[in-house]
Amino acid sequence: MDLSFLPFSKKRDAVALDIGSSSIKLVQMSQTKQGWELTKLGKADLPPEAIVDGSIIDSMTVTNTLKELMSEHGIKVKDSVSSLTGHSVIIKKVSFPAMAEEELAESIQWEAEQYIPFPVSEVNIDFQILGADIEGRGQMDVMLVAVKKDVINDYTTVINEAGLTPVVIDVDSFALENMMEINYPVTPGETVAVVNVGASITSISVIVSGLTIFTRSIPMGGNQFTEEIQRQLNVSFKDAENLKIGRSEADSDMTSLPAAIDTVSTNLAFEVKRSLDFFLGGTQGAYVNKIYLSGGSSKIEGLQLLMQEKTGIPVEMVYPFKNIEISVKGYDDEMLKDVAPFFGVAVGLATRRFGDR
Ligand SMILES: Nc1ncnc2c1ncn2[C@@H]1O[C@H](COP(=O)(O)OP(=O)(O)OP(=O)(O)O)[C@@H](O)[C@H]1O
Ligand SMILES: [Mg+2]
Repeated sequence: MDLSFLPFSKKRDAVALDIGSSSIKLVQMSQTKQGWELTKLGKADLPPEAIVDGSIIDSMTVTNTLKELMSEHGIKVKDSVSSLTGHSVIIKKVSFPAMAEEELAESIQWEAEQYIPFPVSEVNIDFQILGADIEGRGQMDVMLVAVKKDVINDYTTVINEAGLTPVVIDVDSFALENMMEINYPVTPGETVAVVNVGASITSISVIVSGLTIFTRSIPMGGNQFTEEIQRQLNVSFKDAENLKIGRSEADSDMTSLPAAIDTVSTNLAFEVKRSLDFFLGGTQGAYVNKIYLSGGSSKIEGLQLLMQEKTGIPVEMVYPFKNIEISVKGYDDEMLKDVAPFFGVAVGLATRRFGDR
């Protein structure tokens, strides 16, 4: 799904950019006869104040970081695919009278107002039909997607300034759906949840037989861990961040580090459970077979196990390169496994092309 309406389709390669609040992730993939091939992989950190809660605050820094990342990896293509997340994105399942896709495209513009907390004039609207009138009740379920125009504008400006043409602006959850589709063959009737734990946002999507039918985002992620460590150990944000990722040994008393991490992990696991319970409560006969964890903060020690305990659902770390031939130099299996959690969204984006809907 995307929110840029472009006239014709010619499938040339594009660079995928997951512009997150803590770093930009870059992926380029080519489609070969055998399947997908990874040709570029990169990541560049952003300072904490550049993007806050899914909105670009310091566009100059983001543009410059993007330019450096592009040149570091010798990106030649001009088309870019990226995504948005957070409070500027509204995704809702709504019911419509059964009708053709073209007809829906028109009437959804009028009907959307009642489902979103912003005036329709302030958002771009898109949709995905979840199955046309399956039960013969004259109704069909539709995933309605609304994204704030000013936020789309901020991201496209930054991308343009970096010398690229944004041909697709997607949302994180649908990018993750695409990533799952190429890596984990769908078992009919199987329901999986993908939980992407970033720096500022955790997004949850429930995918049934390959289609996203429920999404939620929780304003919690790696930053909460860092802040809790900062508070409990009385250190700076930067020191707390290094302690969290195990990059530095503090001189101060470290005994409260595991407790600080555990406090936030427990809260996060509880919030994920609450969201899934909400989905399960609102959908008759629903269940979740498995949770796939992704995002940089899924690397928090013990989070996988804790989430499994709290939800009672098996939790597995997602591997976004599972079904992809790796043609980037300098990465062995262990290194790929180490960076994999960061690249779930970007891999999904990298399957998109100019002219894709
Ligand atoms: N080894 C590690 N252990 C725990 N956390 C880690 C580790 N490495 C990175 N992180 C955390 O992962 C987070 C970054 O993950 P990710 O790149 O998925 O987020 P983002 O896309 O930038 O953020 P968001 O999507 O919330 O805007 C940061 O909070 C970082 O501290
Ligand atoms: Mg992210």
